[in-house]
Amino acid sequence: MSTAITGSLHDSPNGIIASYLKRTRRSAEIYARACKLMPGGTSRQASFWEPYPLTIDRGKGARFHDIDGHSYLDLINNYTAMVHGHAYPAIVAATQQQIAKGTAWAAANEPQNRLAELIVDRIPAIEQVRFTNSGSEAGALAFTIARLITGRTKLLMARYGYHGSPLEFEVGSFGKEGPVTHLATYNDVSDFEAVLDQHGHDIAAVFLEPVLGASGIIEGNPDFLHGVRAAAHKAGALFVLDEVLTLRFNSGGCQTVIGIEPDLTMLGKIIGGGFPVGAVGGRADMLHVFDPSDLQVFHTGTFNANPVTMLAGEVSLRELTPDRIAQMDRQCKTLQSGLIAAASRHGLPFSTNRYGSCLNIYFSQSAPESSVLREDEMLMNNFHLACINHGLFIAHRGLIAMSTVTSDEDITEAIELADMAMRDVAAEIT
Ligand SMILES: Cc1ncc(COP(=O)(O)O)c(C=O)c1O
Repeated sequence: MSTAITGSLHDSPNGIIASYLKRTRRSAEIYARACKLMPGGTSRQASFWEPYPLTIDRGKGARFHDIDGHSYLDLINNYTAMVHGHAYPAIVAATQQQIAKGTAWAAANEPQNRLAELIVDRIPAIEQVRFTNSGSEAGALAFTIARLITGRTKLLMARYGYHGSPLEFEVGSFGKEGPVTHLATYNDVSDFEAVLDQHGHDIAAVFLEPVLGASGIIEGNPDFLHGVRAAAHKAGALFVLDEVLTLRFNSGGCQTVIGIEPDLTMLGKIIGGGFPVGAVGGRADMLHVFDPSDLQVFHTGTFNANPVTMLAGEVSLRELTPDRIAQMDRQCKTLQSGLIAAASRHGLPFSTNRYGSCLNIYFSQSAPESSVLREDEMLMNNFHLACINHGLFIAHRGLIAMSTVTSDEDITEAIELADMAMRDVAAEIT
């Protein structure tokens, strides 16, 4: 098991970490066992934190329970994917029926057409879709399409952008160039133009998020996104918009709000209704590379477009109405103001980035260019554990995301719980 966070944390029996250890004994035991079986006891870096993550037993609506019996108000919703919270009744009903009828077979199913229809109807630039089992796979597949179409081998993305786990993207997420990865500064068209001027002949695709998600909810300027699209096309590269996270902000994605037409769009998270999913959507002439009548790439996957995921995704998208999106945005704004006021009451440095229903918090006077560059780890880690001690669950890197089943009363409660957590954090500053 990895050791506790070091630094300014007190070791007092009533300190934040001592309370965490005391109330999460079964989680600790389970984590110790997991460490023998999986590297570092986990298969997912984003759900690991020091000294060990909670083990969750069950969730319903806006809350879940850990294995030690504590209840939490969940304000991360599986990193934005569970847009209708946990065990959403309409998704449970639809998938239970399907599970009883069988979950996957090596032949077609009807629900995949219905989810594809919804996506094609809502997002004008998407003429056809190809399903995968994760957003990461969707990114890798979009890059495959771009390489096939252009005959080039490299990609350009924003420094600290996030497009999933494949190494060619991940290096860029941490600000490093790689053998196939060029980087430029987000919201700086001229930097993208300069890289394309110099390396455009090798670049198959430019990947961008309309709002940087993992990097801390940083909104892309529409002129920047349009400018990069134009520069990519001038260089003969494809323009890929990553809407894996941002589809929760608008039924047609951010591209509809901005009025931009990518060649390819990456999707994931909410289109699976809580099940593993990803998709690449885009121009039919580009997705044609998968057409069995003229096959250029043998793309397959044992669970691609399985009917359970497809049905859950259909319900998830249908039930994400504009009114509910507006409600989540309003609640997130209320939460943002409440957290800012609480931090000020406790004399803590604090800043936030918000876009719609997502918020990233920092215990520093201003938000850094990327959360990769944050210098407030100690305070953030303390706050994360203190929140857990009070029954509030947020991402340990400070990301917060509403769900449609988060109520206004939940937001009031979240502000009160965060206030108590900030009091604990302030009390431990030496
Ligand atoms: C913008 C973006 N792209 C891609 C991904 C990768 O998706 P997945 O975690 O399903 O592989 C994520 C996941 O957080 C994401 O936020």
